[in-house]
Amino acid sequence: QTPKGSCLESVKIAIDTGYRHIDGAFVYFNEHEVGQAIREKIAEGKIKREDIFYCGKLWNTCHPPELVRPTLEKTLKILQLDYVDLYIIELPMAFKPGDAIYPKDENGKFIYHETDLCATWEAMEACKDAGLAKSIGVSNFNRRQLEMILNKPGLKYKPVSNQVECHPYFTQPKLLEFCRQQDIVIVGYSPLGTSRDETWVNVSSPPLLKDPVLNAIGKKYNKTAAQVALRFSIQRGVVVIPKSFNPQRIRENFQIFDFCLTEKEMKEIEALNKNVRYVELLM
Ligand code: A2P
Repeated sequence: QTPKGSCLESVKIAIDTGYRHIDGAFVYFNEHEVGQAIREKIAEGKIKREDIFYCGKLWNTCHPPELVRPTLEKTLKILQLDYVDLYIIELPMAFKPGDAIYPKDENGKFIYHETDLCATWEAMEACKDAGLAKSIGVSNFNRRQLEMILNKPGLKYKPVSNQVECHPYFTQPKLLEFCRQQDIVIVGYSPLGTSRDETWVNVSSPPLLKDPVLNAIGKKYNKTAAQVALRFSIQRGVVVIPKSFNPQRIRENFQIFDFCLTEKEMKEIEALNKNVRYVELLM
């Protein structure tokens, strides 16, 4: 999903800037570049493998339990790493297994596949036991789907995290509270309101970074709306994975540890919630 080479450069700049958490996936088709960037930085002596936190994802076509470990092994081979720090089920529904990433029938409809999420989870647990993933988690799971895993008889490991859309316009108050109670970390994707690419983003929701409140608060601290949005999330305990392929903005998004929003400002930003997703995942 990135022009050839841009991911390699961006990850290297990010590591030099101080980022250690890298959010990847097989379906981003750039894991080879991420792996190369990490390995180059290790070879340079800039970091050690254990400094990096790499998250990989199990795609929808690979939910059948017998496919889980081979799929993770494929990712590790592409990355040329021995383990991922976190491996997550990318979405709670399955597509027909096979070479097509988005399998469709002759009418252009997605071909789904019936699998048992709990069985998929057991295969994820086995990956952790085998040392291929240090931790395991989920993504785009709602409360009921989380509860299905949490209530599974014989559960060995709870999901450590749930990666979902989360930002000032979609604050996820209920899911955040539930996950807090269950000790599940929320990792917020699209923390800056996405790239507004109309092929997959609901652009009827207004651009987050143009928000007057975020900009006004930013002015006070000499920060941008993006920095305020990121600070807001981390201050409420939500992990952020901002995406940028621009060196200046990669650095900008890291300069969020030298200021603190007041309780009043946090409340003001929380009140911006529109309960509207940018990433609707209509499939
Ligand atoms: P670019 O790669 O040109 O920086 P999200 O993390 O919510 O998915 O948002 C990603 C989008 O936000 C990308 O289009 C990215 O563009 C843009 N972006 C990233 N950082 C900033 C920033 N600090 N200010 C404005 N736009 C940003």
